[in-house]
Amino acid sequence: MPTLLFEDDPAHRRQRGLVQGPLGAEGVRRLEPEIAAIAGRLSAALPERGELELVADFATPLPIAVLAHVLGIADGDAERFRRWSQSVVDLGAPLGEDRGVAVAEDYVALQRHLAGRIREGGAGEGLLASLGAAACDRTATLPELLGVATQVIAAGNDPTTAALASLVHRIAIEPGLQPALRSDRSLIDAALDETLRLDSPVAMFRRRATRDVELRGGASRRARRSRSSTPPRTAIPPSGTGPTSSG
Ligand code: HEM
Repeated sequence: MPTLLFEDDPAHRRQRGLVQGPLGAEGVRRLEPEIAAIAGRLSAALPERGELELVADFATPLPIAVLAHVLGIADGDAERFRRWSQSVVDLGAPLGEDRGVAVAEDYVALQRHLAGRIREGGAGEGLLASLGAAACDRTATLPELLGVATQVIAAGNDPTTAALASLVHRIAIEPGLQPALRSDRSLIDAALDETLRLDSPVAMFRRRATRDVELRGGASRRARRSRSSTPPRTAIPPSGTGPTSSG
């Protein structure tokens, strides 16, 4: 399926426009109260003392619940959506036969659900409704819209889980970091940025220069394969993809 992660302009620009509303910087700012409410609910359910399972009970369900809200998944579908999201993430992992078949079935079920919502042509709430509207006015094709929706589910989940886990790990291993963050909450953004720099949750994407370009003072010649390991901030940056393509 064509996805914006692997498309160049003009397809990339058009697809980026489809998600820019809820996932651009302003859209993410508007989401903050909902994200805080979800994080509050999840952390209230964690044990106050002793051991806790951070990844399973907080870092994984948090982005899934936020994505369900962004996409406009109905409350009644939330449980299925949790399972489908996990399967989308697991697609990239080595799987045994049983889990492999379950993941494939979930993936197909998710595609059917997304296609059904998109075909409703703008009914309901959230990103799926706006993708449905784009299908109606033929701004994009159904396979494109499915690719965009699936990529948002995959891209929104795993890196966020990994970043949250890395941040807590950093706090656990760096003496002094926890008291510093507790006494000055304005340091939290910098701590997260620094965590992303030190423990990138998305270790590497293959990119190939499609024209001569200078990267950090060094020339990267056209068609020479290069690797990017610099993660962006969580919000999608302004439109425009630069002179690279996947491959
Ligand atoms: C800390 C969390 C995250 C990290 C570290 C991260 C990292 C990345 C990286 C490295 C890329 C590829 C950039 C490139 O080389 O082209 C990317 C692209 C993307 N990510 Fe994230 N991501 C995070 C969270 C999210 C979330 C929460 C969402 C959506 C809800 C998301 C959606 C996307 C999308 C749609 C793209 C493709 C953008 C484009 O090509 O225009 N990401 N992300």
